[in-house]
Amino acid sequence: MKIAAPLVAWQRSQGRQGLPWQQTRDPYRVWLSEIMLQQTQVTAVIPYYQKFLASFPDVASLAQAPSEQVMAHWAGLGYYARARNLHACAQRVMQEWAGNFPPDSAGLATLPGIGPSTAAAIAAFCYGERAAILDGNVKRVLSRYFAIDGDPTTRATEQKLWQLARSEVPSAAQLRRDPMVMTAYTQGQMDLGATLCTRARPQCKICPLQKGCLAYAQGRTDELPWPRTKKILPERSTCMLIACHQNKVLLQRRPDSGIWGGLWSLPEFDSGLSPQDGCAYLGVSVGKIQSLSAFLHTFTHYRLTIEPILAHVRSTKISADTRIDMSQSEWIQIGQLSTLGMPAPVRKLLDGLLADHLLR
Ligand code: ADE
Ligand code: SF4
Repeated sequence: MKIAAPLVAWQRSQGRQGLPWQQTRDPYRVWLSEIMLQQTQVTAVIPYYQKFLASFPDVASLAQAPSEQVMAHWAGLGYYARARNLHACAQRVMQEWAGNFPPDSAGLATLPGIGPSTAAAIAAFCYGERAAILDGNVKRVLSRYFAIDGDPTTRATEQKLWQLARSEVPSAAQLRRDPMVMTAYTQGQMDLGATLCTRARPQCKICPLQKGCLAYAQGRTDELPWPRTKKILPERSTCMLIACHQNKVLLQRRPDSGIWGGLWSLPEFDSGLSPQDGCAYLGVSVGKIQSLSAFLHTFTHYRLTIEPILAHVRSTKISADTRIDMSQSEWIQIGQLSTLGMPAPVRKLLDGLLADHLLR
């Protein structure tokens, strides 16, 4: 039994309507929303999306913006490679596509940060292209509907799911009868996975796909899809120095490539050093030093223990034998902190200290 017809009918009556990026077929707006939604929940994305569009209303304005300004708008959303790719993509659209997004999913998929599923979603929403998507939600729905066993991280399972996704796309005849069918179908897959066919306790009783769903028929909804094989992440640790002087904090802009690229962060030193030696290494002459409680931050490829050190310094002068690149460091007024793009854990740390009146 095909899923398109019941899914489309369900999306139109019960699916999510009114989301800001559903009111348009402008590829720029749809692309921006799809990138923001890649690893982030709808409710978290909405305010970022609106602020972003207010500052960068079209692809030309985004392409021209300094990367620092783009990063500042992204700060807090996480997965910052998305923001760097977004900026690069806007520049490619200006330079290679005369300011117009490619007119199909194949062209879209050649751009930075746009994988096959995102390309298909944009093409389906904007152009009505009969393109199959396969994001995490859709994988879960298809794995259950077709009772697909197997490790979801393997190529074999991935390919099986892509094949199913392509075979379920509404037919050309359906599209002729109903020109907006791809919008409803694509949104419907996302909505079903996000609202009914959730990882824990799917609501099969009210699901439009219940009749044909094999996992439901076999009573296996709680064992499908197979859980991902958990990666064991390497552990690292670092000390972050919060150096304060007369309402200013010493920050460092990270290199454009790598973790937190282009964001403003705290100077770091090896957690093997004592706080005193660490401050000397950074060239900061400190008075009182206070170790704060360490906390954990998980990246895609490793887990980082952050040990914050709070120090009120005697002067903003950085000693000449420092090994930090001072051209990337600045004493920032506490009042200016909110205007800078910062990694979420650093922002949280500084906000906590501000709330406790420890920055001064
Ligand atoms: N997640 C990815 N794309 C989405 C969309 N268009 N609407 C809601 N959630 C999504
Ligand atoms: Fe998911 Fe249940 Fe619907 Fe099957 S019947 S697609 S398991 S919500």
